[in-house]
Formats: sequence, structure tokens, C-alpha cells
Amino acid sequence: MVDTQAGALRAHNVTVRFQGITAINEVSLSLEPGDIRGLIGPNGAGKTTLVNVLSGLETPSCGHVTLDGRSLQGRPPHQFRRRGIARTFQSGRLFGELTVAENVIVPAVNLGFTSRQAAAHARELLAWVNLADKTELIAGILAGTDNRRLGIARALAANPRFILLDEPAAGMSEIECEEITRLITAIPQTFAAGVLLIDHNMEVVMRACERIHVLDSGRMIAEGAPAEVRSNQAVISAYLGIVVTGQRRRVNVDAA
Ligand SMILES: Nc1ncnc2c1ncn2[C@@H]1O[C@H](COP(=O)(O)OP(=O)(O)OP(=O)(O)O)[C@@H](O)[C@H]1O
Ligand SMILES: [Mg+2]
Repeated sequence: MVDTQAGALRAHNVTVRFQGITAINEVSLSLEPGDIRGLIGPNGAGKTTLVNVLSGLETPSCGHVTLDGRSLQGRPPHQFRRRGIARTFQSGRLFGELTVAENVIVPAVNLGFTSRQAAAHARELLAWVNLADKTELIAGILAGTDNRRLGIARALAANPRFILLDEPAAGMSEIECEEITRLITAIPQTFAAGVLLIDHNMEVVMRACERIHVLDSGRMIAEGAPAEVRSNQAVISAYLGIVVTGQRRRVNVDAA
């Protein structure tokens, strides 16, 4: 397939099936350098599955991923990382027994930085995410929201071209959400990286993102600017409207 969007990270008609469950169904999404795109949808909609595909952790049953127009089909996750695709994990997945600084240094060294470069880079990144005073703490004892910021610093350690953030604001207070929104919106200019942001906090997503994609039961049901998505009837029925009935606790009701 000819991909006219050089520089873009794209999922083309991707389907992922797990023993009878279709987690995502013919989903396409294009992320360009400088973008901050949102990906929202109810629990189980397929958001993490799509991030797994875009970062090489999951191989699509159908469809494929391209970077700069070249297919990454069949490549292992470390080759996605080497080509500049970084991600954070919903569950954290930090090295709990290493220090905060080492959590950033190790992936940078693995991707070819010298120890000295990696240590200097880690100091800068950890200061940027407001963890400068915690660099020597053992990561396993960090509070939940510090974990999220460490996850972002770690993903940025390899100077990625694209960073995929899976629920970075989960469990954060209002003030922490404001801070993380500021950090996320600064990523394209500060690090020259495009961002895909998944979160159930609509205030964070609507403020940070220029465009938002909406998944429901594995299908992409809408894409548009925040105002378009907020007033889209299908999105309200599938996701945003649910918060009014209080069934979907993980969504920030006020912002939706
Ligand atoms: N490894 C797996 N094996 C079987 N089913 C899976 C697997 N991973 C995900 N699923 C299923 O695929 C669907 C999509 O899951 P996914 O984790 O992508 O949703 P999500 O949108 O990220 O949800 P959440 O908002 O709760 O994080 C769900 O039905 C889930 O149970
Ligand atoms: Mg998820």
C-alpha cells in the first residue's frame, strides 16, 4: 500500500481478535508529528489494544501499522521503540526495585545512549516531570501519581517521535490533572514528538487534544475536534451520556 503521509504513524484497518472476542474491528488512525490526538471510549472499547498494536506489543489479525509509509508488520516491540515509538502503560510497569533515575536511564542505555548521556538526560526529564527531588527513591515506593509522571519521563528517555499515553491522569486530583495537562500539551514543542492520549478524564482530553477519536465496542465511531465530539450523538449515547446516569465512574462527569 502507498502511504501518502510520510512522517506519520498509522494504523490501517486494524482488527485484533482474542479467542472469539473482536477487541478492535477495522480501526484506522493516523498520528502525525506535532499532533496531540485523543482516544476515548468506554471500558473495554479497545483503546489499549490499539496502543498495543501501534507499539508492536500486539500483532493485528488483519490490517497493519506503518511508520513513514513503511509497514512494521511482524516487527518485535523493540524495533518499534528503535524507530521512535514510545508508550506508557495503564498498569505502570516500572522497574519497582530500581531507583527513579535508573528507570529512565536503563531504557535510554538500551536504545544506544552512553551511561553519561542517559544520566544527564534522565536528570532533565525527571526535573521536567517534577520528580527532581525523588530521583534516588526506589520506584516501587512512589505514590500512584508520581508513577504516572515517571512513566512519561521513561517513555521520553529515548527521544521518541511518537508517544502513546495510556491513562496518564488516572487517579489524579484536579490540581495534578491540570499539571499533567500542561506537561502533555508541551510535549510536541519540547520534544518534537506526536502524542496519542487515552484517558477517561474528559477535561484532560478535551483541553489537551486538537482532535479526538472515539472507540466503542472495538469500532471507531467518531473523530473530530473536541467540540464536535462532545456534541456527537453517537458518542453521547456510547460514552459521554453514560456518565449522567452515573454508570461509568471512571469518566469525569463535569467535563463530559
Ligand atoms: N489479552 C487479551 N485476551 C483476551 N481478551 C482481551 C485481551 N486484551 C484485551 N482483551 C479484551 O479486548 C477488549 C478491549 O480491551 P482493551 O483493554 O483494549 O479496552 P480499553 O478500551 O483499553 O478499556 P479500559 O478503558 O478499561 O482500559 C475487552 O473486551 C478485553 O476484555
Ligand atoms: Mg485500557
